[in-house]
Amino acid sequence: MSEHVIVTDEAGIRTIRMYRPEKKNALTLPMYEAITVALESANTNESVRCVLIGGVPGAFTAGNDLADFLAAAQGTGGLNRVTLRFLPSIVNCRKPMVAAVSGVAVGVGTTMLLHCDFVVAGTDAFFSTPFVGLGLVPEAGSSLIAPRLMGQRRAFEFLVMGHPLNATRAKEFGIVNLVVDPQDVDAEALKAAREIAALPPGAVAAARALLRGSPEEILGRIEQEAKIFGERLQSAEAKAAFEAFFARKR
Ligand code: COA
Repeated sequence: MSEHVIVTDEAGIRTIRMYRPEKKNALTLPMYEAITVALESANTNESVRCVLIGGVPGAFTAGNDLADFLAAAQGTGGLNRVTLRFLPSIVNCRKPMVAAVSGVAVGVGTTMLLHCDFVVAGTDAFFSTPFVGLGLVPEAGSSLIAPRLMGQRRAFEFLVMGHPLNATRAKEFGIVNLVVDPQDVDAEALKAAREIAALPPGAVAAARALLRGSPEEILGRIEQEAKIFGERLQSAEAKAAFEAFFARKR
């Protein structure tokens, strides 16, 4: 499906590894599809007790591939159709999700973490949500979840002003559970996944559902965000920002 997403199952843990190091794991449409399928099929696979999502050293993911955003801004590409299946697959994932974050986590690379149950970050982690600077709006339900998680003013600073967070601040903001040496990120995330996988799965599922609250509310917000996001993608502000990104090295 995508050579840039590697999915493996071992001892009850499904690992979904984004692997496009030369582009800092920027997410293409086939990558979204591969992650979606891995999450959806985990739901119906009883042997999967926990999902671990990770990237490569120095890059969890640089977020949506800006070439696809530019194509969408120019009126081509199937961005909405694909991401509108990806985001609900994260909300609807019935298995606990652990994330291993080394390096950059930009845009959806950070907002997807708001749906994870346990997040391990390296001291090299860099969390950034530059939506507004790109002429866009926050997505993935982050406009609902972030103010609840970190408070209105911190959410504004992060999601609207676009101030990035290092690992320590991300922990203060409630995005991260554990900050470790970059070389230990995968091992610590695996340790957490194994701990979760060893718990009684029925009780984990029931407790997790209670903690996560109403998926309908989050899915409703994702739809609302997506409508505005789609409109913003067509804006002159967004098109200029994407073009500036690709022109920066010329
Ligand atoms: N979409 C497409 N390509 C991307 C990308 C993205 N989101 N992020 C990085 N890349 C590409 C770069 O164009 C570059 O490709 P090239 O070598 O062919 O020029 C390569 O990945 C490495 O990125 P580079 O910018 O050289 O690395 P860096 O370490 O200096 O900076 C980032 C890393 C992530 C901070 C920077 O690339 C960036 O800001 N990317 C855009 C992130 C973004 O806005 N995402 C969307 C959020 S809504």
